[in-house]
Amino acid sequence: MNKSFNKKIDRSKSNERKWSIEYLEENYKIDFSKKFYNLSIADLDFQTPKPIVKSIISRAKKKTYSYTYTEKKSLQAIQIWYKKMHEINLKTDLIKLVHGTVNAMFEVVKCFTKEKESVLIQSPIYQPFERSIIKTKRNVIYNNLIYRDDNYYIDFVDFENKIVKNKIKLFLWCNPHNPGGRVWEQEEILKIIEICNKNKVLIFSDEVHGDLVLNQKHNSLLNYSNLIKDFIVCNSPNKTFNLGGLKGSYMICSNKNIFEQISNQYEIDSLTSPNIFFQPALISAYTNNYSYNWLKKLKEYIYSNYTFLKQQLSNFQNLEIMQMQASYLVWIKFKSKLSLKDIKQQFIDNNLILSFSDDFADCKDNWIRLNIGINKKTLKQVVNKLKLVVFNIKGEK
Ligand SMILES: Cc1ncc(COP(=O)(O)O)c(C=O)c1O
Repeated sequence: MNKSFNKKIDRSKSNERKWSIEYLEENYKIDFSKKFYNLSIADLDFQTPKPIVKSIISRAKKKTYSYTYTEKKSLQAIQIWYKKMHEINLKTDLIKLVHGTVNAMFEVVKCFTKEKESVLIQSPIYQPFERSIIKTKRNVIYNNLIYRDDNYYIDFVDFENKIVKNKIKLFLWCNPHNPGGRVWEQEEILKIIEICNKNKVLIFSDEVHGDLVLNQKHNSLLNYSNLIKDFIVCNSPNKTFNLGGLKGSYMICSNKNIFEQISNQYEIDSLTSPNIFFQPALISAYTNNYSYNWLKKLKEYIYSNYTFLKQQLSNFQNLEIMQMQASYLVWIKFKSKLSLKDIKQQFIDNNLILSFSDDFADCKDNWIRLNIGINKKTLKQVVNKLKLVVFNIKGEK
């Protein structure tokens, strides 16, 4: 176990959303004069690996910050990473550096559908999937995931029916799933591909949690590229190495035609010049052995946090903890007669900021999502607070 993750980092003056009181005060009504815990936004409490930090500082020291272009070295770094991490061979000419994964969803929706057309997502899901469809004046169609035995499953009959009935041409997929932490299995992926192929549906696979798959292999759509005509996989080092503020990610397209169409959409929206610090960070993250080994240790640390949390909360009959197969976000079902509003209030009264069902698209029942990308000492304090809140809520039933 790498003890360096135990170190507490002071983020109070770093002007980042998860830690900045200036930002949080606008959004949460808790007592900020007292110690508070923010387990919502999917950022890690840990420092980014040293070589990545060094690469950013070294770029900053050049004292010039002009427009950029996509460097060959960046594309090669992505190629190297995929080979090493996932045993996948990529062609660099089908990779496009873009400006964040959420933005990529918006661009894909605009590029491959027209206003009033329908786009399919699986719910519940990370909110921007829905937002990218509604804000661009398209129609959202939900394929509800089935919750069973601490896991999510796909209702394939509904999936296909909705595609046919709504003339779906685009499916926005979360692989692995956020908020469920579900890693989709080969059989499920093959079924998705079969239905999408049959109905000529383009798959956009958001794989930003793919490098954080725990104790098993990430099942990237790229593993099946010979079976699908059109797809876009989107990934980035953001979740993995805590680089969200650089607003950089990349798309891997199935073929030249898709690559050119989406590149044209980025031109229409005048989205050019990758962030000047993104490329050095990406190259360092993806080519350094240090980062690669750091990630292995990070995953061990997170998994031990998950085991600890599960064990500590196992006696609460009003909680069901979903299997966290990827990332550092634990999805917990809250079985209580209280309304979500009342449940939220109990957490707020205890200075705990979490994500709740209504932070996600089309989420029924009461759920909470906990970010456990935090050090063990903080986790213990959080668990004690959680126990108090959960016990209280139990008492109110
Ligand atoms: C599934 C998923 N996609 C995308 C993002 C955000 O990606 P980006 O910061 O690159 O827009 C998140 C952040 O939590 C996420 O969970």
